[in-house]
Amino acid sequence: MLAALRLAARAPSVHNTQPWCWRFDGTRLHLYTDADRLLSSTDPLGRQLVISCGAMLHHVRTVFADRGWHTDTRRVPNPQRPDHLATIEFRPWPDPPAGVHTRVLAIDQRRTDRLPLAEPQGFSDILPRMRMLTAPHEVALAVLDESARPRLAAASAQAGALRHHDLLYQTELEWWAGHPDRPEGVPPSALVSDAEFARVGVGRVFPSVRHSMRRAQPEDHARLVVLSTDGDSVTRWLHTGEALSAVLLECTAAGLATCALTHITELPTGRKLLASLIPNPATPQVVIRIGTAPDDGDMIPPTPRRPLTDIFTRVGSH
Ligand SMILES: Cc1cc2nc3c(=O)[nH]c(=O)nc-3n(C[C@H](O)[C@H](O)[C@H](O)COP(=O)(O)O)c2cc1C
Repeated sequence: MLAALRLAARAPSVHNTQPWCWRFDGTRLHLYTDADRLLSSTDPLGRQLVISCGAMLHHVRTVFADRGWHTDTRRVPNPQRPDHLATIEFRPWPDPPAGVHTRVLAIDQRRTDRLPLAEPQGFSDILPRMRMLTAPHEVALAVLDESARPRLAAASAQAGALRHHDLLYQTELEWWAGHPDRPEGVPPSALVSDAEFARVGVGRVFPSVRHSMRRAQPEDHARLVVLSTDGDSVTRWLHTGEALSAVLLECTAAGLATCALTHITELPTGRKLLASLIPNPATPQVVIRIGTAPDDGDMIPPTPRRPLTDIFTRVGSH
């Protein structure tokens, strides 16, 4: 159990807040939010907090599947306790689907890559697999065409400008990003220089760090993918996180680099613009950049995680 959770805790989360907490009652595993980790300015409704927990839930289910356990999952089991996101019951599963093992191997290799990327190799082959993975969660996956990029870049710049003078947002960002040697947050090694940021054009503004040019290609050619749902609710957000995790791991397993982006979804104008760029009227939740990281670049080191004792407790059976 502990080794499985330790691996699954490599799941991505907004600002690497890791806002999850697991309780094992001797039979069932329960997922709760850790409300102390809510980004109250960036994410006042806790949408991204729940999406992050959904990513962790998918990582856990994938790891247990690989170890021969089917995880029957009840989502948001108690509407009176919205912090209780899921309950998992285990039963033996001797023959999990083939892709599970490759996705588990991808967990330790996945990184959020904020640097410019080359075009994703083999994207048309992987696209149907991504859609197959998001469909059971009722999360739609739309690929934006190149003509959408300048509009997304403009929305990204607008979000950055609006946030620039938002003191609470900036304080939150400064607290969570740019510090080395912490068990949480986005360390300097995961951030980019001003020049690299400018070449990507659609990234969230983080505190900038000094790096020399780490990748040769002049522009970002990552494909932009939008995950969206039919409406907004805790259950929809949880499913979005699960779908996000599946897409990121599938891409990593295929040798592709990824970066989740949510700053454009945090403000009404950005969400409206995104909604207008996807085929069916839907609620956009997350944008993902998907590309190929050139071999000539530095390897991005893994971001830190909290100790297991902070996120896992055994409780008496009930
Ligand atoms: C819900 C969610 C929102 C995120 N939003 C952004 C974002 O707007 N910009 C960005 O660069 N990274 C974003 N990320 C990536 C996280 O910062 C990243 O997962 C975290 O720092 C841990 O690093 P890792 O993914 O390399 O393990 C997001 C991740 C999640 C799950």
